[in-house]
Amino acid sequence: MKGGVGKSTLAVNLAGALAMRGPTALMDADAAIQTSGGWIARGAIPVTLLEEGAAIPAGTRYLVVDTEGRPEIDDMVELTRQSHVVLIPTAPNSVEVEATAKLLRRLEDAGANMKTIRIVVTKAPPVGSVGQAARDELRAMGMPVCETVIRRYTAHERAHEQAVLVRNTQDSRAENAWGDILSLTVEVC
Ligand SMILES: Nc1ncnc2c1ncn2[C@@H]1O[C@H](COP(=O)(O)OP(=O)(O)O)[C@@H](O)[C@H]1O
Ligand SMILES: [Mg+2]
Repeated sequence: MKGGVGKSTLAVNLAGALAMRGPTALMDADAAIQTSGGWIARGAIPVTLLEEGAAIPAGTRYLVVDTEGRPEIDDMVELTRQSHVVLIPTAPNSVEVEATAKLLRRLEDAGANMKTIRIVVTKAPPVGSVGQAARDELRAMGMPVCETVIRRYTAHERAHEQAVLVRNTQDSRAENAWGDILSLTVEVC
């Protein structure tokens, strides 16, 4: 029930990057916390905020769904059947990497469409290679993992405070942080 792995932060910035390619909507399916919904509602990010279960506006090219902290496995399976890509963020530490590996096995057993799933390493230290090592470890386990590693920058926290995309924060590392988002956007597209 509190700040987690970075789903909402990624959802908003990814939606902002996708909006440069075509009309984009975001659905915040975390009813209790509403991090991404509040972020979009407070700011001037050119992404349409949709209520959970609302119809997708005609002409929408990209729909980003931000999930709650621990979604039911059945809801995740449903998402894999209805989405082109399901991103599962993980922090680059052994606790999270193991939990992510277990989650993927559970999803497979529950009949998820595994072709849609990509793990993405988030909140990686910008210095050193901990993030890359976690990515490579997951890959060696046979997991589908994005090449892009999302690094940990305070710019991401500033972005939420200021209700902007991370590229629009007045932060010396804003460009690095936005670069990660753009790189991930290219991968998922
Ligand atoms: N790449 C990042 N770098 C630094 N801080 C981050 C990053 N991603 C998320 N955070 C911070 O981590 C906390 C949890 O992020 P959030 O996106 O709300 O996670 P979730 O939606 O998974 O609960 C917030 O304080 C957020 O600012
Ligand atoms: Mg969230």
